[in-house]
Amino acid sequence: MSRYPLISSGTIIESTPEESVQSPIISIRQLGKSFQSGAGKKAVRYQVLKDVDLSINKGEFFILLGPSGCGKSTLLNLIAGFEKQTEGELLVGGEVVDRPGKERAMVFQHPDASLFPWLNVRENIEFGLRMQGMRKGERKAISDRYIELAGLTGHERKFPRELSGGMKQRVQIARVLANEPDILLMDEPLGALDAFTRRVMQEELVRIWSETKKTIIFVTHDIQEAVLLGGRIGIMSIGPDSRVFEIMDNRLEYPRDLTSREFNLIQKKLQGIFQDDLYFHL
Ligand SMILES: Nc1ncnc2c1ncn2[C@@H]1O[C@H](COP(=O)(O)OP(=O)(O)OP(=O)(O)O)[C@@H](O)[C@H]1O
Ligand SMILES: [Mg+2]
Repeated sequence: MSRYPLISSGTIIESTPEESVQSPIISIRQLGKSFQSGAGKKAVRYQVLKDVDLSINKGEFFILLGPSGCGKSTLLNLIAGFEKQTEGELLVGGEVVDRPGKERAMVFQHPDASLFPWLNVRENIEFGLRMQGMRKGERKAISDRYIELAGLTGHERKFPRELSGGMKQRVQIARVLANEPDILLMDEPLGALDAFTRRVMQEELVRIWSETKKTIIFVTHDIQEAVLLGGRIGIMSIGPDSRVFEIMDNRLEYPRDLTSREFNLIQKKLQGIFQDDLYFHL
């Protein structure tokens, strides 16, 4: 039962009942994750996530929103299969997640960590396809499509060191898309960009999502970014024992107008939750 009445004017903001998610692509039940620090008698367990329940539909743009350290990356890493949960169930496409899979792709905050500096833009985008043994002509057809989609036309021959931060992030996104995953896991992918580039990339991302209809789980601690991008916004408690304690429906039409009354209403509602004393005692 929610402590926060999110229903405001009309149907713009609503809390989603769990039952409304039909045959989810991701299904998380009573999930927990703890880490052990130290060894022997001095070992301490830290319960990052506890009792996380979450269902995500195919094609959703889902936001995980919460303050630094609450466990957003941990939850994303579990979905990616990089880590294993200590309690509960995690299914993707009805299958238990116990390792990374081709159908799930992670986009990291710092593209430098994932791009190969000795490969140019096209070669970086085609890398996964080449590893699969795909022939040159076929690879080129796919990379052409994603180069265009990511707004990189004309920059194909540049190397990562010759690109701006926003362009590098576009290359990372294009490379991930070229491998045709069903699910994009994005861990604060725009966090390292300046405000202007970030706004441009947010618009690009909405465009790419509406053209590809991928399922996106996007992590952020930025309320405005959450309202700008998310169809549903999962709000995490502060932790330890963090969980997704509320899910807000955001039915504003894309592309969204940051200056509209409705936009500001949703933003204020979210700000209210994080400023409420109750939030710190969840
Ligand atoms: N491998 C690990 N070993 C021990 N503790 C960990 C490990 N990974 C994460 N934690 C702990 O789990 C908690 C949540 O970390 P996490 O990185 O998931 O937070 P976050 O919400 O992504 O934060 P941020 O917004 O700063 O990225 C933190 O207290 C962190 O110290
Ligand atoms: Mg993180």
